[in-house]
Amino acid sequence: MQLTVTEAATLKEKPDESKLGFGTLFTDYMFIMDYTPDKGWHSLRIEPYAPMPLDPSTMFLHYAQGAFEGLKAYRTQSGSIQLFRPQENFRRLNRSCRRLCMPELDEDLALGALKQLLTMEKDWVPGAPQTSLYIRPTIIAMDPYLGVRASHTYRFFIILSPVGAYYPEGFSPVKIQVTHEYVRAVRGGVGEAKTPGNYAASILASEKAHREGYSQVLWLDGVEQKYLEEVGSMNIFFVIDDEIVTPALNGSILPGITRDSVIRLAKHWNDNVSEKKISIDTLMQAHADGKLQEVFGSGTAAVISPVGEIKYGDQVISISGGEVGPVALKYYNAITDIQYGKTEDPLGWVVQVA
Ligand code: COI
Repeated sequence: MQLTVTEAATLKEKPDESKLGFGTLFTDYMFIMDYTPDKGWHSLRIEPYAPMPLDPSTMFLHYAQGAFEGLKAYRTQSGSIQLFRPQENFRRLNRSCRRLCMPELDEDLALGALKQLLTMEKDWVPGAPQTSLYIRPTIIAMDPYLGVRASHTYRFFIILSPVGAYYPEGFSPVKIQVTHEYVRAVRGGVGEAKTPGNYAASILASEKAHREGYSQVLWLDGVEQKYLEEVGSMNIFFVIDDEIVTPALNGSILPGITRDSVIRLAKHWNDNVSEKKISIDTLMQAHADGKLQEVFGSGTAAVISPVGEIKYGDQVISISGGEVGPVALKYYNAITDIQYGKTEDPLGWVVQVA
């Protein structure tokens, strides 16, 4: 399919790579295409990054019919640019589209468009340690209409943001809080789709957690409020009695690609790993028995993020003495070494761009 490119009149200054945070700076260009029932996805274009005029009645603004992805481009030591399992992101985006009644994308076409955008923007991929170019593919419902139904028209766009660590703590352990007051997702809902409503639903509890000095909320299931699910911006892993355990996918947990990468690497190395239903009581008991060795989160933005403290009701437990544990460190190193091309790619995950 034809793709048109509109050149920017001026280019932005590149940021200081030693000061990158998360998600505040954007590159010079973005990719856009539109969907109408008669033409399907069409009008593929790369344009200067700019505000997008939206009719105030645009359905996405009212009913959040939309989905997004998060992946990263990495600069290797030789200066080349590579992606990590990008096909999995477009596959998941299509699963989100099916759940949100939106038209699917041609995954190869979307990846091809992303590669073309990245080739133009390759100078924006930072090279400092722990930095990368965060990629946000997004689909939104575009009909100007206030009735509740599936939109007929959609827009897909990809924006790029040079980033450092997601948490200000960097790779230092974060503190998380379990909530009984709110739930993020329920059985049969949209919890496993990467859709804006899940994040909106999480904000009040996150704000309360922040006020108490915690970085994030550790969500319990929405039915019994008993089983551990995820953290909202990352999946969660526990090391209990030398076994790496993560909550089994159940329809309300986001199927994270970094989560899947940890599991696959663990199996590749014959580490003891399992996906199972795990209750907060089991976790607290494991801690009381001295068997809870480590807790860490996984996510594209968060990479592998050690957890040093969990608050549950009145109980506050310290994990690995608030230090980074050996399992979190091993998986952090393994995954980032593959992403940055510092090691061989045993499971064929890397896709070269430029
Ligand atoms: C990601 O890890 O890419 C996410 O989407 C999490 C968050 C920044 C929304």
